[in-house]
Amino acid sequence: DVPLRDLAAERGVRIGSAATVEELRDGEYAAVSAREFDMLTPGNDMKWDATEPARGVFSFERGDAVVEAARAAGQQVRGHTLVWHSQLPGWLTEGDFSAVELDGIMRHHIAEVAGHYRGEVYAWDVVNEPFNEDGSLRDTLWTRAFGVDYVATALRAAREADPGAKLYVNDYNVEGLNAKSDALYELARDLVAAGVPLDGVGLQGHLIVGAVPGGIRENIERFAALGLDVAITELDIRMGLPVTAEKLATQAEDYRAVVEACLAVSRCVSVTTWGFTDRYSWIPDHFPGEGAALLFDEDLRPKPAYDAVHQAF
Ligand code: XIL
Repeated sequence: DVPLRDLAAERGVRIGSAATVEELRDGEYAAVSAREFDMLTPGNDMKWDATEPARGVFSFERGDAVVEAARAAGQQVRGHTLVWHSQLPGWLTEGDFSAVELDGIMRHHIAEVAGHYRGEVYAWDVVNEPFNEDGSLRDTLWTRAFGVDYVATALRAAREADPGAKLYVNDYNVEGLNAKSDALYELARDLVAAGVPLDGVGLQGHLIVGAVPGGIRENIERFAALGLDVAITELDIRMGLPVTAEKLATQAEDYRAVVEACLAVSRCVSVTTWGFTDRYSWIPDHFPGEGAALLFDEDLRPKPAYDAVHQAF
């Protein structure tokens, strides 16, 4: 059968998956990753706690291993993520830093990490998850120090560190039209108007079987109209366990709907799933009782969702 990456290429988009260093040590997994996907996002290995475990001490071994796997498989890399409120090292969250110190810490982190991967990543999720569900700005150490201005600061620092990388703001529950995606839209519009280096918007896509929002295509279109790329960055569509044939069939249609929404808009450049096999997924750990969110089952057999994505391409 034709791999997804070949079909996606014919449609002018990329098909990616998240993967971690540990997962890539599973040879059977690595083979499917290389066969089906032409882009890779490190699931955890470029996050702040992984890359700067002590202040000013940088660690790139894990991230480098993912980049090397991608290179060997002819895959591009989506860097993930430079500025987030989660998976931060203790020295940073417990440091009680002044705004001036935090400004220097953030700039230094971006310069070092994006600088290290300069020329090796296709895109960076520069800022991850800036908003609350109601569209207000999430209360984090970054917003407490700088308000919304940290977003522009981070984007400018990332551009300086790696002028060739596409720079994204990424969030979840912003796939359809709602208060949160409105807030992301307004932020993106303001950044573009101010000449801040923003190239794209990432719609994570952590969705629930049978509850995929409407309006995904319209939402993608409004970001595209700002002159931005759009990427589906972390797609998974979870179900309450146990798995049934009916849920798998609904999941397949849900995946199809998301892929079709992306394909309908030329500025939608890629679809990345957050892992590809139910063997490794963050869902059961983070949403107890739910799972089976990906395209392949635990035995790496393609699910109906895989066939639906295959057909959609
Ligand atoms: C998840 C990882 O997959 C897990 O291994 C980790 O324990 C928590 O983070 N949104 C994001 C991703 O932007 O970085 C998250 O990844 C999933 C939600």
